[in-house]
Amino acid sequence: MTEKREKIKRIGVFTSGGDAPGMNAAVRAVTRAALANKLEVIGIRRGYQGMIEGDFVKLKSTDVSHIMHQGGTFLQTARSKEFRTEEGRAKAYVQLKNAGIDAVVVIGGDGSFAGALEFSKDYDIPFVGIPGTIDNDMFGTDYTIGYDTALNTVVEAVDKIKDTASSHGRIFFVEVMGREAGQLALKAGIACGAEIIFMPEIHEEEKALEKFLANRYKQKKHSGIVMVAEGDSAGGAFKIAEKVQKQHPEIEVRVSILGHMQRGGNPTATDRVVATQMGVAAVEAILEDQKSIMVGLKNEQIVHIPLVKVVKTNRGIDHELIDMQKVINSVQ
Ligand code: F6P
Repeated sequence: MTEKREKIKRIGVFTSGGDAPGMNAAVRAVTRAALANKLEVIGIRRGYQGMIEGDFVKLKSTDVSHIMHQGGTFLQTARSKEFRTEEGRAKAYVQLKNAGIDAVVVIGGDGSFAGALEFSKDYDIPFVGIPGTIDNDMFGTDYTIGYDTALNTVVEAVDKIKDTASSHGRIFFVEVMGREAGQLALKAGIACGAEIIFMPEIHEEEKALEKFLANRYKQKKHSGIVMVAEGDSAGGAFKIAEKVQKQHPEIEVRVSILGHMQRGGNPTATDRVVATQMGVAAVEAILEDQKSIMVGLKNEQIVHIPLVKVVKTNRGIDHELIDMQKVINSVQ
């Protein structure tokens, strides 16, 4: 064992920000990979808030048995305002030091990684990140844990909505999560055969919607799905639907906000496998003396991206997929 490896004896692991299906699988993988490398593992409950309060629990292999298939996060999570303050971070450092934690794995999204970066400016305990969010909005990785499950949840819900939409000949505006990113709306829209997809990254959907509505009867298409990402600049599903209703009183419109059901449920096989890959890779990164990096997946390969790049860079959206969907929907 190298000198670097020897200085790490105990690691902490926690989940932070919005929960995502597959986080439990990631904690399990981190725990088992650490134990396999003779490291002790401390679970930090309730994200950064639990870190500040010293809400720690030692994790053995059996503590992470039978959790891989469960949604949510058994360590719980939080969005800690206190950790955004210097005082909060100072308290967290003292707690980590007192618990003998030499390095930390943080499973979360952009906000969680921004917190880790702030911490690293003043303190010497290294953090390694695992991307966990249903939004799939992070730079440097093709994939974030929870995205695939959320996608399938949306598709299942919209399939049901399509049944009733078609029975009544209605246009449904379905709003999905994703914060400022349209990833969830885009892939769910493709998988559900949505007529129009509103996303924060593009700004021409209103015109496309108008065209669709104007041609609707000509196409003999009496129902439709308009997928709306919650962060879209048009103002969300209710606003868009209200506008359409005013302009087309003859059309029956309905709105469905899918909400937090998108965050729950048993993780898909993909989420479990990716969470396991990333969990093991995070422990390996710590043993290689990496700090302030995120482990990600690019073309199915594990990559390391500096946290600073992750939090400062916009992931963008796949314009080829957008163009492809337009082709599919262009046929009269
Ligand atoms: O980042 C995950 C996410 O589910 C977003 O899609 C959504 O905007 C946000 O979290 C909701 O956060 P909260 O659960 O705090 O309301």
